Amino acid sequence: MANSPFVIATELEPAMWRLYRDFFEQAEKKRRWSLRDDIPWDQCNPKLDPAIGDVVESFCGVELYLPDYTSKILPVVRPSKGRTWFYANWGYEESKHSLALGDWLLKSGMRSDEQMADLEEKIFQWEWNLPHDSHLGMLVYAMVQEVATWLNYRNLRLKALERGGDPALEKLLTLIAVDERAHHSFFRECVELYLKYDRPTTLEQLRRVMNDFAMPAIDSMVDGRKRVARIKGLQIFDEDIYYREVYLPLIAALGVDRKEIRNRLPNKKSTVVIGP
Ligand SMILES: [Fe+2]
Ligand SMILES: [Fe+2]
Repeated sequence: MANSPFVIATELEPAMWRLYRDFFEQAEKKRRWSLRDDIPWDQCNPKLDPAIGDVVESFCGVELYLPDYTSKILPVVRPSKGRTWFYANWGYEESKHSLALGDWLLKSGMRSDEQMADLEEKIFQWEWNLPHDSHLGMLVYAMVQEVATWLNYRNLRLKALERGGDPALEKLLTLIAVDERAHHSFFRECVELYLKYDRPTTLEQLRRVMNDFAMPAIDSMVDGRKRVARIKGLQIFDEDIYYREVYLPLIAALGVDRKEIRNRLPNKKSTVVIGP
């Protein structure tokens, strides 16, 4: 059987390890950036629309759940060296995202130290839990969530440009978006391996995750409903964008036909998708 422990140990795991080594090489060579030196902090725009600052705060909040993301996924992927090493590097990159967004909120004057301390305190009153119970479900989920997050950051940058512009914010959103895209590519390549070795099981997970996709971190955060409404109102992310720019292109990239994973349309009640 394609998904036997033997095939996993002799073929799938070595292939994932190679993917991780390639990912790491690229990250070291092309993607490392400095929080201090690569962002033009002196070019924050005090006249930027405060609605943009509100969304930056929400995204910063999502990135702040890093202790939950890392501590809960590592035990699930522990048998896989490729995935554990990946998450060690991933955690470092995600930690920079919340630092960059938080620094911008302070340096731009959008938030005070007190407001940021208050946000962090409220964030940690709620605990994030894994939305899927299997390691494969979480792999598929991570693949979808990372590309959705890339889209969120890209659209926020375009919106910031439209609403007054802020070179510091635009630069940091570009750097973060490149990281998110790289995270997505790694997860997608892992999913492609699983599709090759055990297509029926992988399709079942794609069906479960993609047709009912929701990332609850924003919803459950303090003022969650308002935050989601703002993101939708600015057309940074909503259900239609998910379907058009995540769901359809992703299944096409995976070589999956809609019929293979269709049991219902993507959940129209899906919340806004944003993740680390
Ligand atoms: Fe990410
Ligand atoms: Fe991130």
